[in-house]
Amino acid sequence: MERNNQLSVVVTGASKGIGKAVAEIFAANGASLYLCSRGEAALYKTMEDLQTRFPQATVKARPADLSVKEEAIGFGNWCLSQAVPDILVNNAGLFEPGSVHSEPDGLLESQLNVNLFSAYHLTRTLLPAMMIRKQGHIFNMCSIASLHAYANGGAYSISKFALYGFSKNLREELKPHGIKVTSVHPGAVLTDSWGDFDNSSNRIMEAADIAKMVWAASSLSVQACVEDIVIRPQLGDL
Ligand SMILES: NC(=O)c1ccc[n+]([C@@H]2O[C@H](COP(=O)([O-])OP(=O)(O)OC[C@H]3O[C@@H](n4cnc5c(N)ncnc54)[C@H](OP(=O)(O)O)[C@@H]3O)[C@@H](O)[C@H]2O)c1
Repeated sequence: MERNNQLSVVVTGASKGIGKAVAEIFAANGASLYLCSRGEAALYKTMEDLQTRFPQATVKARPADLSVKEEAIGFGNWCLSQAVPDILVNNAGLFEPGSVHSEPDGLLESQLNVNLFSAYHLTRTLLPAMMIRKQGHIFNMCSIASLHAYANGGAYSISKFALYGFSKNLREELKPHGIKVTSVHPGAVLTDSWGDFDNSSNRIMEAADIAKMVWAASSLSVQACVEDIVIRPQLGDL
């Protein structure tokens, strides 16, 4: 992607964790950032933190619950009122452990809403403007749970398989439109998703590891598309 102008980058679920790390690496490189999450206080704190540390960037934010179709579309329209995105990072997601036979009724629906439909509706809102410009890059934050079933995966893993299906279909249909699509598959990354996990032995990855891979994939020539990023802890999955 050409780096002559300030990149416009949309990152969902950007108030903490992997999304914040991705926002940070683009801020450090002077991008214009458009961020969202549900919680206002944490989101605005992240916005102010990044703007203060990276004055060469422009950081804006708008709270939205992307699991609600109207809010995903509303956030997308707000982004378009600011700029047509060069890069969209569909990162917002929630991990709820479970098993198909015992998880609560409705868990699959709520996991699909936050992990799949959020990305689907936001992408559909932004795509027409991106397609007119015939350039752009969409990252979908899938998971190792998009590739392999595992114990306690349940609705979460089903929703992440579905997100990967969305991402692969998008890749195929956007080839002739000049828009790249990358599916990112992290293994365990130390974020709030892991609660008070003791990582004193560095067993699991840092959010910055994922952000560095997203940045690298976004930096290639216009004719090169990284289709999948699979990144695991050195000692493998937990
Ligand atoms: N950490 C891992 O080990 C790991 C591994 C593989 C894949 N992933 C994926 O990576 C992504 C980020 O995970 P993470 O570990 O960084 O999670 P995290 O630390 O819990 O952060 C999740 C972010 O998403 C936001 N969010 C959650 N629900 C949302 C909604 N309905 N609408 C808008 N924003 C929402 C959260 O803010 P609010 O709560 O304020 O909305 C927060 O900013 C997820 O898609 C996750 O499935 C994580």
